[in-house]
Amino acid sequence: MATVIVALGGSLLRPEVEERHMWLEGLIEIIRDRVAMDDRIGLVVGGGAAAREGISLARPIINSEDRLDRIGIAATRLNAAIVRESLAEAGIPASGTIPHSVNEAASLLEERQVVVMGGTRPGHTTDAVAIRLAVATGAERCVIATNVAKVHESDPSTDPNAVAHDRLTHSQLQAIVGPAEHSRAGPSQVVDPMGASAAANAGMPLCILDGRNPESIRTAIEGGDFGGTVVE
Ligand code: UTP
Repeated sequence: MATVIVALGGSLLRPEVEERHMWLEGLIEIIRDRVAMDDRIGLVVGGGAAAREGISLARPIINSEDRLDRIGIAATRLNAAIVRESLAEAGIPASGTIPHSVNEAASLLEERQVVVMGGTRPGHTTDAVAIRLAVATGAERCVIATNVAKVHESDPSTDPNAVAHDRLTHSQLQAIVGPAEHSRAGPSQVVDPMGASAAANAGMPLCILDGRNPESIRTAIEGGDFGGTVVE
């Protein structure tokens, strides 16, 4: 029996691929199996394409980053609803509501084995929410499921020679993602610097991986060798 929090990057809902519901089905099977093993699982879903689209539509006429963040949060809650309703349809005992805060999520997780949420308030991303929820619930680890295999020294999309890391200390991760500040709504680092800082302060282990293959998420939840980057 373990408590594990998983940040599901919104990009995993993948508008660009056919049969994308297959990923959701894979996720449902993992959660079903972990519930049968008495685990408690918190899923924190990112905004993905819906957040990018909403923020880019509004950016020319909205100057406030807080307002743009709130559009991003609405997108994360939309995606959280997709995940929550899919789990409920499959008979998995997920909490009936999508909490608005980490504290609310932590208390729901005392009653239900599965809680699904999105973002909470402006100023950070769902990675930071997941890490704070992991700290608040005394979770074994926080899994950050994104769309890159490992944390790289520099951005692999612009630097083909970027060095990939299997293991990092919290301070090494902080040096890579930069200072703990949230300046602009929308796409950010491989791990939110606010989250990296919260993880460092609490000594919360992070498992960063490519969540496009749901089996990597399963292995990380189970504490196995998931093939991404371990931060501890
Ligand atoms: P995401 O958590 O999806 O962040 O939130 P992201 O880094 O942009 O994207 P991925 O999914 O990790 O690739 C989308 C946006 O919603 C706002 C931020 O503007 C964020 O960029 N947001 C989200 C908040 O302001 N607070 C939250 O708690 C969550």
